[in-house]
Amino acid sequence: MTGSIPTLEDLEQRLGGLDGRRVLVRTDFNVPLDGPTITDDFRIRAALPTLRWLTERGADVVTASHLGRPKGQPDERYSMAPVRARLAELAQGVELLENLRFDAGEEGNDPAFVDRLLDGVDAYVNDAFGASHRAHASIVGPPARLPSAMGRLLQREVEVLLPLRTSPQRPFVAVLGGAKVSDKLGVIDALLATVDALCIGGAMCFTFFAAQDRPIGDSLFEPDQVDTCRRLLDSSTKPIHLPTDVVGLDAAGRVATYGTRLPDGAKGLDIGPGSAAAFGDVVMDARTVFWNGPMGMFEDPRFAAGTKAVAQAVADTKAFTVVGGGDSAAALAEFGLADDVDHVSTGGGASLQLLEGKTLPGLEVLS
Ligand code: 3PG
Repeated sequence: MTGSIPTLEDLEQRLGGLDGRRVLVRTDFNVPLDGPTITDDFRIRAALPTLRWLTERGADVVTASHLGRPKGQPDERYSMAPVRARLAELAQGVELLENLRFDAGEEGNDPAFVDRLLDGVDAYVNDAFGASHRAHASIVGPPARLPSAMGRLLQREVEVLLPLRTSPQRPFVAVLGGAKVSDKLGVIDALLATVDALCIGGAMCFTFFAAQDRPIGDSLFEPDQVDTCRRLLDSSTKPIHLPTDVVGLDAAGRVATYGTRLPDGAKGLDIGPGSAAAFGDVVMDARTVFWNGPMGMFEDPRFAAGTKAVAQAVADTKAFTVVGGGDSAAALAEFGLADDVDHVSTGGGASLQLLEGKTLPGLEVLS
């Protein structure tokens, strides 16, 4: 797929050099914030190869991104100021516009907003993989009007993620977690066609437990997804590994370990040690691993062990390892394992949509 998308080199050639050219780079600087403090600058650092490549060639680089979900108007909480300060430390001389979503024209894909964005701009680069599943103005507008290319980050994402769909080294194992099965149904369906095994942890395992008529106490689950989970369990020709034990809180608020039947008032918040070991074994035996979503509420140290064990197995296995989604990437970083995997995707929704086999609007307009 990347074959048909112009690269930075193609752009340079098309323009006869980039010196003095003003290049707008759409980045995904949608970073996690605690008040004005950036808690993880991974997405900013991930854009640096493209920004440096352009500035080294004399381009006048201006970046633009969304941050959070302000409702089409300025909202101080989502100001780009903290990102701008961090970017200034990492890439001198690169400009950053204010949050694109402060204007309703961004999400509304308004041509007049694209006009304003491109005023004085000679070329466009999309390096916002994480936002390329959105048909928003800054993603789909510019390529129709200006010489455009994909940046290094976008290129690497597509080159790593697409072969997972078509030609993974086998056994190919996917480990999925997170709270909501509804967010991941599309990808579970698609993955079941390509993987050799699927491990499911996180709160979404309780919707699968409910589909097996197991009592789940007060654990989170999605009643409207139970039938779908039952269908998946019944129809899958690939093994779907669910937790065999669970750690959580009992009705009195004490940490407790359960099997696969949770009593009234109990709430499951992590996979148990037996499940963590079993998932770890599956990962160690694989040749390709895709992991998306934590195994439990790892922000609370009492419920971090399952996610940590999976992260460690993903880091230790000899398999080609790909981690997608902000939460799993944050978990890896927290456990100091981010450098021990082959690829950490900057995209959550975007990486899932690509694996689902959907085309991303941002990629489509570039090719
Ligand atoms: C993300 O964090 O997944 C991307 O930045 C897209 O953000 P959005 O879901 O608010 O469009």
